[in-house]
Amino acid sequence: MIRLRKLARAASLLTTPLAPEDILSLFNPVFSARQLRGVVTRVVPETADSATIFFRPGRGWQAHRAGQWARIGVELNGVRHWRSYSLSAPAGEDPAITVTDMGAVSATLVRTTKPGDVLFLAPPQGDFVLPEHPRPLLMLTAGSGITPVMSMIRTLVPRRPDADVVLIHTARTPADAIFREELAELADQFPNFKVTHWFSGERGRLDFGSAAELDLLCPDWRDRAAYACGPAGFLDDAEALWESEAAADPSRTALESTVPAATLTIERFSTSLAGGEGHDGGLVTFEASDREVEADGATTLLDVGEDAGVLMPSGCRMGICHSCLTPLRAGQVRDLRTGEVHGEPGQLIQTCVSAAAGPVNLDL
Ligand SMILES: Cc1cc2nc3c(=O)[nH]c(=O)nc-3n(C[C@H](O)[C@H](O)[C@H](O)COP(=O)(O)OP(=O)(O)OC[C@H]3O[C@@H](n4cnc5c(N)ncnc54)[C@H](O)[C@@H]3O)c2cc1C
Ligand code: FES
Repeated sequence: MIRLRKLARAASLLTTPLAPEDILSLFNPVFSARQLRGVVTRVVPETADSATIFFRPGRGWQAHRAGQWARIGVELNGVRHWRSYSLSAPAGEDPAITVTDMGAVSATLVRTTKPGDVLFLAPPQGDFVLPEHPRPLLMLTAGSGITPVMSMIRTLVPRRPDADVVLIHTARTPADAIFREELAELADQFPNFKVTHWFSGERGRLDFGSAAELDLLCPDWRDRAAYACGPAGFLDDAEALWESEAAADPSRTALESTVPAATLTIERFSTSLAGGEGHDGGLVTFEASDREVEADGATTLLDVGEDAGVLMPSGCRMGICHSCLTPLRAGQVRDLRTGEVHGEPGQLIQTCVSAAAGPVNLDL
């Protein structure tokens, strides 16, 4: 580190107009005083549409807890795009993300990333993590929703062979099931870890409309701390089932109950932003960037700004991380999750879940 500082001082004497960090980053791609970065060390294809990208983060990265996610920045056509990805590696090991191709950023990560590439990073965050005290666990996952849970399983199962974990993972076909072989090997090695793969292409959707299917797959599911991650419909159904069970047996959730509550912890990768449909938008002015764009009432201000080439701060893109908070100079916005219109001059708004509700001026 001292050598790097000396090198930085020498570089600052020798380099104009490049900043010393820019010169140092030529020698060490993860060096940056301004932006956390990581260098890709390995890329492992998982299925036809997904790949795991291992990276070595630079200074400023914090070790992740199993189940957490990080913001990853990727440059496409000269514009940096940020997306959130769960860290699929076990806690205590170098981080990795497992990405499924769904759109422009994920396709770039899955199809073109190679060792030596540099990723822009933000430190891990999130509270979808293992419980503090050991409990029997039930993991319910679908599609790419396996990724945070895989980190939990990789962290817990080999280190605590007595840990009682049931995983029910749904994928369309066996070929689409990410980590299928590794999960089967872990289940062979650790008898307290049980895996059921549910292939919806053969059996139809796993139905949480009633408890019947879950009763068959995991009869003691009510006694387990449950974690779920997957598409919105899958999670909404699971949430509804847990709520109906709690309503049917309130003694389980009573404070004095000696039986642990049947908790369900959910991680969402996307959220419904339908609250702007049928409403008018307005002229959006990005004051600091000197741009004006006519926007409809259903498109997020984040998308509007990015499409106009404005450098927009962002993270989860679904209203949970607050990375996109931006001061409103004038006008009102609609929260696309609820349809509610709000806005006072100076108020911080989440551009990822807000659309213009009339003319809007933003401090960007
Ligand atoms: C906390 C968190 C963790 C995440 N972890 C992962 C991960 O481990 N692996 C991974 O592949 N992705 C993960 N995502 C999703 C990821 O951030 C991107 O949304 C995804 O890669 C699509 O981005 P894109 O730019 O390629 O496509 P975009 O053009 O931005 O999105 C394409 C469409 O896909 C929708 N979408 C995004 N994710 C899902 C999903 N899982 N199921 C259904 N529709 C979806 C978007 O809402 C959008 O409508 C995570 C998201 C969050 C918020
Ligand atoms: S980007 Fe996370 S809250 Fe907006």
